[in-house]
Amino acid sequence: MRIAVLGTGGIGGYFGGRLAASGHDVTFVARGAHLEAIRETGLAVSSVAGDVTVHPANATDDPGSIGPVDVVLLAVKTWQLPPVLEAVAGLVHGDSVVVTTQNGVEAPDRVAAVVGREAVLPGIAKIFAYIDGPGRITHAGGPASLVFDEWSPAPGGPSDRVMRLRDAVTASGAVSPAPEDIWAELWSKMLFVVPFGGLGAALDATVGELRSKPSSRALLEDAMHEVEAVARARGVRLPDSVVAGTMAFVDDQPPEATTSLQRDLLAGKPSELDAWTGAVVRLAAESGVDVPLHRLLLEVLTTRHPHALPS
Ligand SMILES: NC(=O)c1ccc[n+]([C@@H]2O[C@H](COP(=O)([O-])OP(=O)(O)OC[C@H]3O[C@@H](n4cnc5c(N)ncnc54)[C@H](OP(=O)(O)O)[C@@H]3O)[C@@H](O)[C@H]2O)c1
Repeated sequence: MRIAVLGTGGIGGYFGGRLAASGHDVTFVARGAHLEAIRETGLAVSSVAGDVTVHPANATDDPGSIGPVDVVLLAVKTWQLPPVLEAVAGLVHGDSVVVTTQNGVEAPDRVAAVVGREAVLPGIAKIFAYIDGPGRITHAGGPASLVFDEWSPAPGGPSDRVMRLRDAVTASGAVSPAPEDIWAELWSKMLFVVPFGGLGAALDATVGELRSKPSSRALLEDAMHEVEAVARARGVRLPDSVVAGTMAFVDDQPPEATTSLQRDLLAGKPSELDAWTGAVVRLAAESGVDVPLHRLLLEVLTTRHPHALPS
């Protein structure tokens, strides 16, 4: 399979690295010292599920040089999408697919605006992975799963191209379970990560702190109910127990855990605030649902962190 990994970070480096190490023809898009290191010494993935090294690795900073591929793994942060999306059209031909991995629920639409819905496989990465130096990716935890499906899955079961890619991901040593409903999964992940990220950043609190203080625990649960209300207003079929199930998941996390949103905001870096809290506020307004907690979080976080939204 010919695969282009757009963004060789925690997600692209981990899943792309495993696919390359298992024999697929993978080209990694990277830049700066990370690109130089990948070209010179390869891509090293250190993982709690077993290490792999890809050497030599095909790597470039010019997606336009890659040509048509079977699969595009889109793995840049949401604020980095615009220039990368311009390049995606040149990689897609006939039956190519673009798998999205971004947190939030809007990336599939942003890609579909460029290549059409039929080429997009909305996806979710469930993992904790990051770049820990030029040419080096660390997978520190999480199930390491890449969940994806057709935009509108056929009732007869997964398409051949989805099955081929799931088989390839599984054979590479990662996990790729079939979702019951990809949109419900995307919103369920959003229902976990956005309230946790927004409140964690506003209160500068770890998950252990948020869940153990009754007042912040109640806010976390209220924020989840807001996301649930938006999803239901948009016809997303979330399980009835989605908030209770997500709170149980919160209780299972290591107490020191924080989100990338919180870490990026507090470090003064660009962040995914627009695609997380911003999206909840935006989609709620579109759907006629009030989300006062998210409106407040967005106001507080954009005021405190003026760099937080894309310019
Ligand atoms: N990491 C996780 O554990 C995890 C888990 C679940 C979901 N996600 C989601 O997955 C998405 C990707 O996250 P990530 O953690 O993998 O991000 P990341 O580690 O920051 O990786 C993104 C990579 O893409 C590169 N990049 C961006 N634009 C580029 C361009 N135009 N040309 C070349 N390289 C470019 C970045 O380079 P620079 O560093 O130079 O900008 C960076 O190396 C996010 O939406 C995130 O929310 C992540």
